[in-house]
Amino acid sequence: ENEGLLLGKRVLITAGPTREAIDPVRYLSNHSSGKMGFALAAAAAREGAEVTLVAGPCQLSTPAGVRRIDVISANEMHEAVANALAQQDLFIGCAAVADFRPASIAEQKMKKQDGENEMHIALVKNPDILAWVAQQEGAPYCVGFAAETENVEAYARKKLERKGIQMIIANDVSNSDLGFNSDNNAVVAISADSEQHIATNTKAEIAKQLIALISSKL
Ligand code: PMT
Repeated sequence: ENEGLLLGKRVLITAGPTREAIDPVRYLSNHSSGKMGFALAAAAAREGAEVTLVAGPCQLSTPAGVRRIDVISANEMHEAVANALAQQDLFIGCAAVADFRPASIAEQKMKKQDGENEMHIALVKNPDILAWVAQQEGAPYCVGFAAETENVEAYARKKLERKGIQMIIANDVSNSDLGFNSDNNAVVAISADSEQHIATNTKAEIAKQLIALISSKL
């Protein structure tokens, strides 16, 4: 039942969380499992695309026919995306990239200090991979995701404009049955001239519908 909607197209997708080291044994991260991004990679490959998947740390097997590059941190994800970007027709940023990382990584395991009940970790901003891709000369069609817990569509529209991308997929993650780590999701795909609601379904089915929608825009 696949129609070859992306035959001859090259697609680059980020998925999963990033991990930002604090010291040799600790890190900052989030609850992304990679399921949504891997489902998109599988759906795009099934439609005939040549797919490169840049994945943060996640426990998922690589979809058939997909080239996978594993990374840990946002900086590594940025570098892998930059190295793979030439000749891509479509970029989908589904990764939950950490916005900040520790300003420095302690070389040795950090120790508790006697008498101190607080500790502070200075953070610095990570590169915005999606906004960076959208700014490159000859940039591919860029699709971002926006996981929000309130004002979902309004915040998503702001991200669409601020990042200079062509489409944003808003997902409401206020309900723990959807979004992060769940097998299901519900999304609204927003572009300058269209808005499509895709009701609660498995990430595999949502990915299939999103790939059909996006391929109609390429
Ligand atoms: O992995 P799962 O468990 O299946 O969950 C899927 C998901 C909920 C993680 C996914 O559907 C999703 O919504 N991903 C985006 C999460 C998010 O909150 O992104 P954001 O609002 O921080 O960023 C917006 C967009 O910019 C995203 O496309 C993100 O990949 C991109 N971004 C953000 C920050 C950054 N430094 N670089 C980026 O490229």
